[in-house]
Amino acid sequence: MFPAHTPVLAAEAMRLIGLRPGGLWIDATVGAGGHAALMLAGTGPDGVVIGIDRDAEAITYVTERFREFGSRFIAVKANFSETGRVMKTLNLPRARGILADLGVSSMQVDTPGRGFSLRAPGPLDMRMDRDERPTAMDLITQSDEETLAEVIRTLGEERAARRVARAIKSGLKPGAIRDTVTLAEAVAAAAWKAKGSRIHPATKTFQAIRSAVNREPEALDAFLKNLPSVAAPGGRAAVISFQSIEDRAVKRAFAEYAAGCRCPPGLPVCACGRKPRARVLSSGAVKPCSAEIEGNPRARSGRLRAIEFL
Ligand SMILES: C[S@@+](CC[C@H](N)C(=O)[O-])C[C@H]1O[C@@H](n2cnc3c(N)ncnc32)[C@H](O)[C@@H]1O
Repeated sequence: MFPAHTPVLAAEAMRLIGLRPGGLWIDATVGAGGHAALMLAGTGPDGVVIGIDRDAEAITYVTERFREFGSRFIAVKANFSETGRVMKTLNLPRARGILADLGVSSMQVDTPGRGFSLRAPGPLDMRMDRDERPTAMDLITQSDEETLAEVIRTLGEERAARRVARAIKSGLKPGAIRDTVTLAEAVAAAAWKAKGSRIHPATKTFQAIRSAVNREPEALDAFLKNLPSVAAPGGRAAVISFQSIEDRAVKRAFAEYAAGCRCPPGLPVCACGRKPRARVLSSGAVKPCSAEIEGNPRARSGRLRAIEFL
């Protein structure tokens, strides 16, 4: 059994998706089931929760964890970019509420064999779905220095991306980079270091490599794009992100759904006919309070945004 994953911004997320008894609900990143447990509790006695994850181990885990709920819980191994297809295949109606809690789970990070941890030696893997390629090792060996630097710059927002990419490529040749810890050491020596920061200097690069390996930006874009076809009218969607690049994508997509007329100012009547498809539920992102961060440091960078479809 894995140690439980403490769900981040849990009460706020449940409130924002409008959790209530009955209907269909989707946890698009079910992980260890921390949020899904609350969804099952709040939607009883007959609400149904679909738990999606691209990680087969998470699916095995929650299937066992929620066995007692019988047909009220359906676990599906899939990429959340495919949520629409999953619902169609299972012949399910549109959902009252959808939650995505992005990134990796404690279960994944705390299993060194998965290769997500920069503190415990593990293979250079980092795949959430182990049926897919590339692995982290594939990515760093097959990308040239320039491409690797671009990944580290755009997906990790690492200031010294070029220097880090060079350190990785030159560390690969003599075999000095063999696992997550030797990669973290090589990266840390080259990375930009914020004064007084207690965060490991390889964190941003690991985040970038993980994001590229799992094509996280592409999956999030597809998920956000599919939301109107997955949510029922009046249905809500909430996303918890941990990286500013993801929070920006969520903010942009939600603002786009909430945007109305786009006519230039001064036109007497609207000519574009564009109507808002949703309303944004919180002004700005909801952040964890200091007590939550103290109890669960992983919550520190969590940002929650939600919308309601009209
Ligand atoms: C932060 S954890 C979720 C934890 C969960 N909310 C809980 O309380 O236990 C993120 C989970 O989302 C999964 N995941 C990330 N990106 C995904 C995607 N594109 N499709 C499906 N699952 C994804 C990961 O495998 C991981 O299990």
